[in-house]
Amino acid sequence: MDKIRLQGMRPLYGTVAVSGAKNAALPLIAATLLAPGTHILHNVPDLRDTRTMFKLLETLGAVWQRSGTTVQVDTTGLMSSEAPYDLVKTMRASVLVLGPLISRTGRARVSLPGGCAIGARPIDMHLRGFEQLGVQTVLEKGYVEARVESPLTGGSVYFDVPSVTGTENVLMASVQAKGETVIKNAAKEPEIGNLIDMLNGMGAHISGKDTDRLVVTGVESLHAVEATIIPDRIEAGTYLMAVGAAGGEITITNCCPEHLPALVEKLRLVGMDIEAREDSFIASCPVAADGSRCRLKAVNITTMPYPGFPTDLQAQFMALMIQAEGVSIIHETIFENRFMHVAELQRLGAQITIDGSSAVVKGISREQLCGAAVMATDLRASASLVIAGLSASGVTEISRVYHLERGYENLVPKLRAIGAEIEQVAA
Ligand code: EPU
Repeated sequence: MDKIRLQGMRPLYGTVAVSGAKNAALPLIAATLLAPGTHILHNVPDLRDTRTMFKLLETLGAVWQRSGTTVQVDTTGLMSSEAPYDLVKTMRASVLVLGPLISRTGRARVSLPGGCAIGARPIDMHLRGFEQLGVQTVLEKGYVEARVESPLTGGSVYFDVPSVTGTENVLMASVQAKGETVIKNAAKEPEIGNLIDMLNGMGAHISGKDTDRLVVTGVESLHAVEATIIPDRIEAGTYLMAVGAAGGEITITNCCPEHLPALVEKLRLVGMDIEAREDSFIASCPVAADGSRCRLKAVNITTMPYPGFPTDLQAQFMALMIQAEGVSIIHETIFENRFMHVAELQRLGAQITIDGSSAVVKGISREQLCGAAVMATDLRASASLVIAGLSASGVTEISRVYHLERGYENLVPKLRAIGAEIEQVAA
């Protein structure tokens, strides 16, 4: 199993380009199941998770082919409606095939994802949403069996809390249901807007994009489409915090700064200079008159559904705060177990205590942070360890890198190209 080895305290300079968003690619790939024909998706990141999603589509009977960042998916010959445990257990977003399969074939059998490193993550709201459209769901031998006895009919769906994949799943199930479906308290993440654009391009009628009330007027049929995946806001945010941790000045291209309102606001309070342009950032860490780097200021965050501070950037922000001046309180409200990185950050010397769903981070100087061997526990936790390693003195070695490969395309070469001393080595 590979490791990442990095030498800290090297400032970053240069330009880094952001890839397509993992969390937009996954629902858009699943959405190709809705209509037979050859779909063309652009800006598809080549990640462990997107490969898993394509593999799942293959088991259902689809055929796909990649050429650079463009992927053609032919979903004409669907043969199966079953997402097996072996695939779902490696990627819980596999449940995103439920909605399209229900819509296209009237049935689906999808393994129920278990808990994961960051929380229990049930899918009860997805299932309740399907039931409002007339779908019968039962749980049998670890599988969700969904069946439609009479034609799907639009209904009213309310989410107790906004669920990203729940909103996407119900949207996909409802686009060909008879009549009108209203989704209330829907999630508003930009990835959902990307999906809505694709579905409307296929012939669906969905209004309310970017709001928490989505209205779907069912259509008789859909057709294959060409769509482009939006830039990965979490990857862009990770590079912003990397330069905050390491110092220097970088340009981040192919991104969408307007998708990161909360992070940019917080990083400016932290003391970083960030210029947001239409599709790029120029970000730097202040340098004092004598050339040394100024100390960042501690700032509090609370994770919230979009446009609040994203939970997927919480771990990386904490990695920045370990070297800030003062005390930062990081409150996680989305997932109940998303502090697995804390124990690893402590191995570098970070002073963090956990109090329920809050982490209290007492900043120490960069000189006191010392590289160490650490273990990645989930995707975003891994990114936080890279950021912490960039600011610590000495060498940090991160094991279980496969977590990173699930969601960051070419992270190591991209960081190396802007000056990080980082390599991936066989363990
Ligand atoms: N929830 C329920 N019941 C449900 C669905 C969700 O109780 O049926 C709860 C969850 O346990 C959580 C909250 O609702 O407390 C919100 O979870 P949500 O459903 O929005 O999460 P998700 O759709 O499973 C997506 C991303 C995650 C990201 C979250 C929150 C994808 C493929 N995954 O997950 O991404 O953290 O939204 O923004 O879009 C990541 O990329 O590292 C990642 C974990």
